[in-house]
Amino acid sequence: MIDYKNIIPWGRSYTEYVNMFHLSPGFLSKKVLGCGDGPAAFNAIANAFGGHVVSADPIFKLSKKEIEAQINNSFSEVINQTRANMEQFNWEQFGSLEGLGKIRMKSMKQFLNDYEEGKEEGRYIEASLPDLPFDDNTFDIALSSHFLLLYSELLDLDFHLRAIDEMLRISKEVRIFPIIDLNSKLSEHMPSILEKYPDHELLTVNYEFQKGGNQMLKISH
Ligand SMILES: C[S@@+](CC[C@H](N)C(=O)[O-])C[C@H]1O[C@@H](n2cnc3c(N)ncnc32)[C@H](O)[C@@H]1O
Repeated sequence: MIDYKNIIPWGRSYTEYVNMFHLSPGFLSKKVLGCGDGPAAFNAIANAFGGHVVSADPIFKLSKKEIEAQINNSFSEVINQTRANMEQFNWEQFGSLEGLGKIRMKSMKQFLNDYEEGKEEGRYIEASLPDLPFDDNTFDIALSSHFLLLYSELLDLDFHLRAIDEMLRISKEVRIFPIIDLNSKLSEHMPSILEKYPDHELLTVNYEFQKGGNQMLKISH
Protein backbone atom coordinates (compact mmCIF):
# COMPACT_ATOMS: atom_id res chain seq x y z
CA MET A 1 0.00 0.00 0.00
CA ILE A 2 1.27 3.49 -0.90
CA ASP A 3 1.17 5.78 2.12
CA TYR A 4 2.65 9.27 1.84
CA LYS A 5 2.27 11.30 5.04
CA ASN A 6 2.31 14.55 3.12
CA ILE A 7 2.26 15.91 -0.42
CA ILE A 8 5.75 15.45 -1.71
CA PRO A 9 7.57 17.43 -4.41
CA TRP A 10 8.08 15.22 -7.44
CA GLY A 11 8.08 16.18 -11.09
CA ARG A 12 6.86 14.64 -14.31
CA SER A 13 8.05 15.27 -17.86
CA TYR A 14 6.64 17.59 -20.51
CA THR A 15 5.52 14.60 -22.60
CA GLU A 16 3.70 13.08 -19.63
CA TYR A 17 1.77 16.34 -19.17
CA VAL A 18 0.88 16.52 -22.88
CA ASN A 19 -0.43 12.94 -22.75
CA MET A 20 -2.19 13.17 -19.37
CA PHE A 21 -4.04 16.32 -20.33
CA HIS A 22 -4.62 15.41 -23.97
CA LEU A 23 -3.00 18.67 -25.11
CA SER A 24 -2.93 19.27 -28.85
CA PRO A 25 -0.08 21.42 -30.29
CA GLY A 26 -2.49 24.39 -30.35
CA PHE A 27 -2.23 24.59 -26.56
CA LEU A 28 1.08 26.45 -26.96
CA SER A 29 -0.88 29.55 -28.04
CA LYS A 30 -3.10 29.38 -24.94
CA LYS A 31 -2.55 30.78 -21.46
CA VAL A 32 -2.11 27.81 -19.15
CA LEU A 33 -1.81 27.67 -15.35
CA GLY A 34 -0.37 24.55 -13.73
CA CYS A 35 -1.57 24.30 -10.11
CA GLY A 36 0.84 22.28 -7.97
CA ASP A 37 3.36 21.80 -10.79
CA GLY A 38 6.20 21.63 -8.27
CA PRO A 39 9.45 20.46 -9.91
CA ALA A 40 7.79 19.15 -13.11
CA ALA A 41 9.43 19.98 -16.47
CA PHE A 42 6.18 21.12 -18.11
CA ASN A 43 6.62 24.86 -17.59
CA ALA A 44 10.29 24.87 -18.65
CA ILE A 45 9.79 22.89 -21.87
CA ALA A 46 6.42 24.38 -22.90
CA ASN A 47 7.87 27.88 -22.62
CA ALA A 48 11.02 26.84 -24.51
CA PHE A 49 8.63 25.74 -27.30
CA GLY A 50 7.00 29.20 -27.29
CA GLY A 51 4.13 28.42 -24.91
CA HIS A 52 2.59 30.56 -22.17
CA VAL A 53 2.63 28.43 -19.03
CA VAL A 54 2.63 29.76 -15.46
CA SER A 55 2.97 27.41 -12.46
CA ALA A 56 1.56 28.05 -8.97
CA ASP A 57 2.90 26.03 -6.04
CA PRO A 58 3.77 26.77 -2.39
CA ILE A 59 7.19 25.21 -2.98
CA PHE A 60 8.19 28.24 -5.05
CA LYS A 61 8.85 30.17 -1.84
CA LEU A 62 12.04 28.07 -1.66
CA SER A 63 15.39 28.68 -3.33
CA LYS A 64 16.72 26.39 -6.09
CA LYS A 65 19.07 24.77 -3.55
CA GLU A 66 16.27 24.13 -1.06
CA ILE A 67 14.02 22.58 -3.73
CA GLU A 68 16.90 20.41 -4.94
CA ALA A 69 17.37 19.13 -1.36
CA GLN A 70 13.64 18.33 -1.12
CA ILE A 71 13.77 16.45 -4.44
CA ASN A 72 16.68 14.38 -3.17
CA ASN A 73 14.70 13.55 -0.01
CA SER A 74 11.59 12.60 -2.01
CA PHE A 75 13.59 10.41 -4.37
CA SER A 76 14.33 7.58 -1.95
CA GLU A 77 10.84 7.69 -0.42
CA VAL A 78 9.08 7.51 -3.81
CA ILE A 79 11.41 4.83 -5.20
CA ASN A 80 11.10 2.71 -2.02
CA GLN A 81 7.31 2.96 -1.88
CA THR A 82 7.05 2.21 -5.61
CA ARG A 83 9.40 -0.80 -5.24
CA ALA A 84 7.14 -2.20 -2.51
CA ASN A 85 4.04 -1.78 -4.73
CA MET A 86 5.34 -2.61 -8.23
CA GLU A 87 2.14 -4.47 -9.18
CA GLN A 88 0.06 -1.27 -8.84
CA PHE A 89 1.87 0.27 -11.84
CA ASN A 90 2.04 -0.24 -15.55
CA TRP A 91 5.73 -0.52 -16.57
CA GLU A 92 5.41 -0.30 -20.38
CA GLN A 93 6.50 3.33 -20.53
CA PHE A 94 9.39 3.32 -18.02
CA GLY A 95 10.56 -0.28 -18.33
CA SER A 96 11.82 -0.56 -14.75
CA LEU A 97 12.16 1.26 -11.45
CA GLU A 98 15.60 2.49 -12.58
CA GLY A 99 14.05 3.80 -15.83
CA LEU A 100 11.39 5.63 -13.84
CA GLY A 101 14.00 7.19 -11.55
CA LYS A 102 16.10 8.36 -14.53
CA ILE A 103 13.19 9.99 -16.38
CA ARG A 104 11.89 11.70 -13.24
CA MET A 105 15.35 13.04 -12.29
CA LYS A 106 15.91 14.29 -15.86
CA SER A 107 12.57 16.15 -15.74
CA MET A 108 13.33 17.66 -12.33
CA LYS A 109 16.80 18.77 -13.57
CA GLN A 110 15.07 20.52 -16.52
CA PHE A 111 12.89 22.31 -13.94
CA LEU A 112 15.85 23.25 -11.73
CA ASN A 113 17.81 24.62 -14.69
CA ASP A 114 14.86 26.86 -15.60
CA TYR A 115 13.69 27.81 -12.10
CA GLU A 116 15.61 31.01 -11.35
CA GLU A 117 15.06 32.53 -14.81
CA GLY A 118 11.40 31.43 -14.78
CA LYS A 119 10.87 33.00 -11.36
CA GLU A 120 12.26 36.32 -12.61
CA GLU A 121 9.92 36.11 -15.61
CA GLY A 122 6.91 35.48 -13.32
CA ARG A 123 6.40 31.89 -14.53
CA TYR A 124 6.85 30.26 -11.09
CA ILE A 125 4.49 31.85 -8.58
CA GLU A 126 4.38 30.99 -4.89
CA ALA A 127 0.68 30.24 -4.26
CA SER A 128 -1.53 27.61 -2.65
CA LEU A 129 -4.94 26.39 -3.65
CA PRO A 130 -7.67 27.21 -2.81
CA ASP A 131 -6.54 30.88 -3.07
CA LEU A 132 -4.76 31.98 -6.22
CA PRO A 133 -3.34 35.48 -6.76
CA PHE A 134 -4.76 35.96 -10.27
CA ASP A 135 -7.62 38.04 -11.70
CA ASP A 136 -10.81 36.41 -12.98
CA ASN A 137 -10.42 34.72 -16.39
CA THR A 138 -6.65 35.23 -16.62
CA PHE A 139 -6.07 31.78 -18.15
CA ASP A 140 -7.58 29.55 -20.83
CA ILE A 141 -6.83 26.28 -19.03
CA ALA A 142 -5.96 25.46 -15.38
CA LEU A 143 -4.31 22.07 -14.81
CA SER A 144 -3.81 19.90 -11.74
CA SER A 145 -1.46 16.94 -12.20
CA HIS A 146 -1.06 14.53 -9.31
CA PHE A 147 -2.36 16.90 -6.66
CA LEU A 148 -6.18 17.19 -6.57
CA LEU A 149 -8.00 13.81 -6.35
CA LEU A 150 -4.73 11.84 -6.02
CA TYR A 151 -4.32 13.00 -2.41
CA SER A 152 -8.00 12.52 -1.50
CA GLU A 153 -7.07 10.96 1.84
CA LEU A 154 -5.20 14.11 2.89
CA LEU A 155 -7.42 16.75 1.23
CA ASP A 156 -11.14 16.69 2.04
CA LEU A 157 -14.13 17.33 -0.23
CA ASP A 158 -14.53 20.93 0.94
CA PHE A 159 -10.90 21.67 -0.05
CA HIS A 160 -11.48 20.10 -3.48
CA LEU A 161 -14.66 22.09 -4.16
CA ARG A 162 -13.04 25.37 -3.09
CA ALA A 163 -9.95 24.59 -5.20
CA ILE A 164 -12.00 23.77 -8.32
CA ASP A 165 -14.19 26.89 -7.84
CA GLU A 166 -11.00 28.97 -7.63
CA MET A 167 -9.50 27.35 -10.75
CA LEU A 168 -12.78 28.05 -12.62
CA ARG A 169 -12.70 31.67 -11.45
CA ILE A 170 -9.30 32.33 -13.01
CA SER A 171 -9.64 30.14 -16.14
CA LYS A 172 -12.18 29.01 -18.72
CA GLU A 173 -11.55 25.33 -18.15
CA VAL A 174 -10.08 22.98 -15.53
CA ARG A 175 -8.34 19.67 -16.23
CA ILE A 176 -7.45 17.23 -13.44
CA PHE A 177 -5.38 14.04 -13.77
CA PRO A 178 -5.60 11.39 -12.42
CA ILE A 179 -9.08 10.83 -10.96
CA ILE A 180 -7.86 7.94 -8.78
CA ASP A 181 -6.11 8.13 -5.41
CA LEU A 182 -2.63 6.96 -4.39
CA ASN A 183 -3.81 3.36 -4.18
CA SER A 184 -5.52 3.48 -7.58
CA LYS A 185 -9.11 3.64 -6.28
CA LEU A 186 -11.53 6.16 -7.79
CA SER A 187 -11.26 9.28 -5.60
CA GLU A 188 -13.91 9.26 -2.88
CA HIS A 189 -14.73 12.87 -3.85
CA MET A 190 -15.60 12.13 -7.48
CA PRO A 191 -19.38 11.54 -7.08
CA SER A 192 -19.86 14.90 -5.29
CA ILE A 193 -17.60 16.72 -7.76
CA LEU A 194 -19.42 15.32 -10.80
CA GLU A 195 -22.75 16.31 -9.22
CA LYS A 196 -21.62 19.85 -8.39
CA TYR A 197 -20.14 20.56 -11.86
CA PRO A 198 -22.59 19.34 -14.51
CA ASP A 199 -20.38 20.75 -17.32
CA HIS A 200 -17.83 17.98 -16.99
CA GLU A 201 -16.32 15.40 -19.32
CA LEU A 202 -14.33 12.29 -18.46
CA LEU A 203 -11.77 11.61 -21.16
CA THR A 204 -9.68 8.47 -21.59
CA VAL A 205 -6.12 9.60 -22.39
CA ASN A 206 -2.96 8.05 -23.80
CA TYR A 207 -1.20 7.77 -20.41
CA GLU A 208 -1.49 5.13 -17.71
CA PHE A 209 1.23 4.66 -15.09
CA GLN A 210 -0.98 3.84 -12.10
CA LYS A 211 -3.01 0.87 -13.28
CA GLY A 212 -6.52 2.05 -14.17
CA GLY A 213 -5.37 5.69 -14.07
CA ASN A 214 -6.02 6.75 -17.66
CA GLN A 215 -8.91 9.17 -17.23
CA MET A 216 -8.79 12.96 -17.09
CA LEU A 217 -11.57 15.13 -15.66
CA LYS A 218 -12.36 18.26 -17.66
CA ILE A 219 -14.69 20.89 -16.17
CA SER A 220 -15.90 23.98 -18.05
CA HIS A 221 -18.05 26.94 -17.02
C1 LIG B 1 3.15 15.05 -6.22
S1 LIG B 1 3.62 16.69 -6.63
C2 LIG B 1 3.10 16.76 -8.34
C3 LIG B 1 3.94 17.70 -9.15
C4 LIG B 1 3.54 17.85 -10.62
N1 LIG B 1 2.22 18.38 -10.76
C5 LIG B 1 3.64 16.55 -11.38
O1 LIG B 1 2.61 15.94 -11.68
O2 LIG B 1 4.75 16.12 -11.67
C6 LIG B 1 2.36 17.66 -5.80
C7 LIG B 1 2.65 19.15 -5.75
O3 LIG B 1 1.55 19.82 -5.12
C8 LIG B 1 2.06 20.94 -4.42
N2 LIG B 1 1.09 21.45 -3.43
C9 LIG B 1 0.93 21.10 -2.14
N3 LIG B 1 -0.07 21.82 -1.58
C10 LIG B 1 -0.56 22.65 -2.55
C11 LIG B 1 -1.59 23.65 -2.59
N4 LIG B 1 -2.36 23.90 -1.52
N5 LIG B 1 -1.81 24.29 -3.75
C12 LIG B 1 -1.06 24.02 -4.85
N6 LIG B 1 -0.07 23.09 -4.86
C13 LIG B 1 0.18 22.41 -3.73
C14 LIG B 1 3.34 20.39 -3.81
O4 LIG B 1 4.24 21.43 -3.41
C15 LIG B 1 3.89 19.53 -4.95
O5 LIG B 1 4.77 20.27 -5.77
